[in-house]
Amino acid sequence: MTKKLEINWDQLGFEYIKTDYRYLSFWKDGQWDEGVLTEDNVLHLGEAAPCLHYGQQCFEGLKAYRTKNGEIQLFRVDQNAKRFQDSCQRLLMPVIPEETFIKACLEVVKANAAYIPPYGTGGSLYIRPMMIGVGNSMAVKPANEYIFTVFCMPVGAYFKGGLTPVNFMVSDYDRAACNGTGQQKVGGNYAASMLAHEIAVKNGFADCIYLDPTTHTKIEEVGAANFFGITRDNRFVTPASPSILPSITKYSLLYLAEHVLGMAVSEEDVFIDELDIFTEAGACGTAAVITPIGGIFHHNRLHVFYSETAVGPVTKKLYDTLTAIQLGDLAGPEGWITKL
Ligand SMILES: Cc1ncc(COP(=O)(O)O)c(C=O)c1O
Repeated sequence: MTKKLEINWDQLGFEYIKTDYRYLSFWKDGQWDEGVLTEDNVLHLGEAAPCLHYGQQCFEGLKAYRTKNGEIQLFRVDQNAKRFQDSCQRLLMPVIPEETFIKACLEVVKANAAYIPPYGTGGSLYIRPMMIGVGNSMAVKPANEYIFTVFCMPVGAYFKGGLTPVNFMVSDYDRAACNGTGQQKVGGNYAASMLAHEIAVKNGFADCIYLDPTTHTKIEEVGAANFFGITRDNRFVTPASPSILPSITKYSLLYLAEHVLGMAVSEEDVFIDELDIFTEAGACGTAAVITPIGGIFHHNRLHVFYSETAVGPVTKKLYDTLTAIQLGDLAGPEGWITKL
């Protein structure tokens, strides 16, 4: 029998909601245990766990959607599995096999199916896999035990009133070092970004834009999302850099721009002093899919792209196409959708 929940789907934001089950697995003596679903949402750690002191942890973020006919599907979970493996390797943590990662996500979604917002609400089930280095060990070295867990929670539509452009300001702070961990989804990057985010919000902006840490001349990331721009000659351009997170949404948009919209696409340097080449710009990531960028504030001037209030046509088309695939209204390229 389907569980009945008292959730107002239209009011959902991105606040933590405890769902019924999470996946939990331990790594000890060189191997992972079987892994179980548990109702306990509290992790028990030693006070000297390396994740707490030295940030040895990584995570992922992806979504499951309810389709029009009530089916449940995950978007590009294999890509999150691969990026998770890359993060584990960078921080010397044991790698989770791709099949285990996918199985854990599917099991958690299935066990919490009642929490998946209905089709048409704009909501989805956010899935958060993570790994932490545990076991008491004070030295700065990899932990000798690990926990891999996957939990989920329902989240609401990012833009309640439909896609709306917002403004961003360029930050003087760096999110990640040029040969650091910017390419991986590890907590340290996010801890380092909170001050810059707060400053941007206090100044009336949605978030900040990070420039490349070496020269401070090129766009890197837009808050916790990748940047893309549509050029005057109708190319889809997104920054190439070793210190940005390889966004799965960005690579999906890149593919759709090329194969569905027939555009030329490119990963290249995006200079903050050359924003005039773009007619439209956006931030992309799992949370909002696309956040249209109204303008970017830099050197005391707001550079407006398409409009501060209206969404550009290419941005809109990309958004509509990708969200239609995620919601099952449009068939996606092979392998993008995993049905429960
Ligand atoms: C720093 C950062 N950049 C970009 C992204 C977008 O990546 P994805 O499209 O895989 O969600 C994220 C995650 O949402 C992020 O945390």
